[in-house]
Amino acid sequence: MKPQNGMKRIIIVGASSGIGQSLATQYILSGTWQVGIAARRSDRLEALRNLAPDRVYTATIDITADDAATRLSQLIATMGGMDVFLLSSGTGKQNPSLNPDIERLTIDTNVKGFTMMIDAAYGYFKSAGTPGQIAAITSIAGTRGIGIAASYSATKRYQWCYLTAIEQLAHTQHVDVAITDLRPGFVSTPLLDDGNNYPFKLSADYTARAIRRAIAHRRRVAIINRPYAVLVFIWRLIPRCVWKRLALKTAKKQIVKNQ
Ligand SMILES: NC(=O)c1ccc[n+]([C@@H]2O[C@H](COP(=O)([O-])OP(=O)(O)OC[C@H]3O[C@@H](n4cnc5c(N)ncnc54)[C@H](OP(=O)(O)O)[C@@H]3O)[C@@H](O)[C@H]2O)c1
Repeated sequence: MKPQNGMKRIIIVGASSGIGQSLATQYILSGTWQVGIAARRSDRLEALRNLAPDRVYTATIDITADDAATRLSQLIATMGGMDVFLLSSGTGKQNPSLNPDIERLTIDTNVKGFTMMIDAAYGYFKSAGTPGQIAAITSIAGTRGIGIAASYSATKRYQWCYLTAIEQLAHTQHVDVAITDLRPGFVSTPLLDDGNNYPFKLSADYTARAIRRAIAHRRRVAIINRPYAVLVFIWRLIPRCVWKRLALKTAKKQIVKNQ
């Protein structure tokens, strides 16, 4: 289906907070997109919809739930189709004690939920036969296994690999869909609001601008930003026997109390 008024249509899942919320705000305020937004916290989505009620569509989606794909399809139908699918939903925590609840939630969200959403978006482009783009925010954390964030780093690596597989599948099935893997470093969002001090944090707005550029240029992989690209390059060069000895950790934030 062709978009109305020549406007392109983007659906952002995970738009209620952090990077996804900044992206949704920027796409809405650009005035040139119809924007579908989804997440579990619908009150936050409604606040975004109020920015441009005639161009913004909302859906309450828990990407780990069995009805997630159906709800995404309903949102696509409401918008009369989709040109870009952008998945920002994700979770992760430092977990050096390997708390099983944290590991399970991370895997449910970043592997199961991720897969269901990417597959649903791919299924749409395949059946619609229209050109499209699937973009997902993964992370530089997928570069190597990180001891204090084992499930987070491993699930992000899964996401990289899954996107590569979907790209190959699209090629062999003649589905005209571009794949974009967006890999930020540390970004100042509620995800990192855990009392630790993360160095070189980027703002969500800066990250969202860089992501919009990467999507517009249909980049296959975009590391955000350049200093993190250098860091990732160095990480890759470290031999495994050295990597296993690296005690990667973040400093706790200093809490200053008034006397
Ligand atoms: N912050 C960083 O330093 C950083 C760095 C690299 C990559 N990333 C990645 O960037 C993405 C966005 O993270 P963020 O930093 O913006 O974190 P955030 O502020 O915590 O936002 C996470 C988003 O994911 C959604 N979400 C979580 N579980 C969901 C579920 N079951 N169903 C639907 N939506 C769900 C949340 O919406 P609801 O809770 O309303 O459902 C929220 O909109 C994640 O994939 C994260 O791994 C973040």
